[in-house]
Amino acid sequence: MAVRTIQWNNNHVVMLDQRLLPNKEIYRVYRDYEGVAQAIRDMVIRGAPAIGVAAAMGVALGALWVKGKNFDREIERIFRTLERTRPTAVNLFWALERMRRIYIEKRSHGVDVVKQLLKSEAIKIYQEDIAANRQLGKFGAKLLGSSSRILTHCNAGALATAGYGTALGVIRAMKEAGKNVEVLANETRPFLQGARLTAWELKKDKIPVTLLTDNMVGYVMQKGRIDAVIVGSDRIAANGDVANKIGTYSIAVLARRHNLPFYVAAPTSSIDLKCLSGAEIPIEQRDAREVSHIFGRAITPRGVRILNPGFDITTHDLVSAIITEKGVITPPFAQNIRAYVNHP
Ligand code: MRU
Repeated sequence: MAVRTIQWNNNHVVMLDQRLLPNKEIYRVYRDYEGVAQAIRDMVIRGAPAIGVAAAMGVALGALWVKGKNFDREIERIFRTLERTRPTAVNLFWALERMRRIYIEKRSHGVDVVKQLLKSEAIKIYQEDIAANRQLGKFGAKLLGSSSRILTHCNAGALATAGYGTALGVIRAMKEAGKNVEVLANETRPFLQGARLTAWELKKDKIPVTLLTDNMVGYVMQKGRIDAVIVGSDRIAANGDVANKIGTYSIAVLARRHNLPFYVAAPTSSIDLKCLSGAEIPIEQRDAREVSHIFGRAITPRGVRILNPGFDITTHDLVSAIITEKGVITPPFAQNIRAYVNHP
């Protein structure tokens, strides 16, 4: 059965706890929005589209339990709590904006109607994400043509989305189209999304995968063992600059040096036209302990200064194309990107 990161089930939200993969497959049940917000903060669920879906379901869940007379105040509190969970992936804010629009437009129909509509909207966001990934997968499979040895970074798979994946969606679509495809996956220090999650879901789907530590990329490219790079994105600015997991920028520079195409696969919900360039995208700074410790054990001298930005910006000049569910966007991005986005 396909990987199920998140589901709406009987007025509860169920999430696969990604912190425990690949060693344990534990599904957690959330009965209130505070729990969903905490799960996003703690990385039970992660990946831009997946946290958008989780936030939408969090609103729907929170709304279900609000009493009529406090509805407006409480719903505001729910939005505010979910907005403050993680700052970089725009999908979270995009999903909350969609939920807010339903709330504002349908409020006059009464609390019970709004509760039902918020639930339907969250489920719609979930379903649309899977459909978008399948569609962008098809576009990507065509674009990548005969490339067969593909490098990816972090996890942009079924686990990071409502299902199927973005970068890994393209790989899945290539396989479904009968192409021979082999994935090289970076381990992705410090949270190890590549080693723990990408390797896990590809193995589950019987897609050949070889794991690299992040510092091996230059060597492997120099040896001619990579045909193309494909990654997901947390936010794409109006000029085509791309925020993605820390380390993505270095890979893009190496890809340029070795004349390899560097593709970004993302639904249009990841495009943020309000950010004119990558410089305006907020970069999450994460706990130093993720770098200084491995599985609870210190690996650095105590008190050493540590940097831990969660994401970096790959400038648009290094991006060959952005693969979306509406089609493939090619340079010049500043000119072409707007035609693919219909949200403000
Ligand atoms: O910190 P994470 O694990 O949420 O970061 C995830 C990534 O950077 C992914 O590459 C990105 O969200 C795209 S997921 C389809």
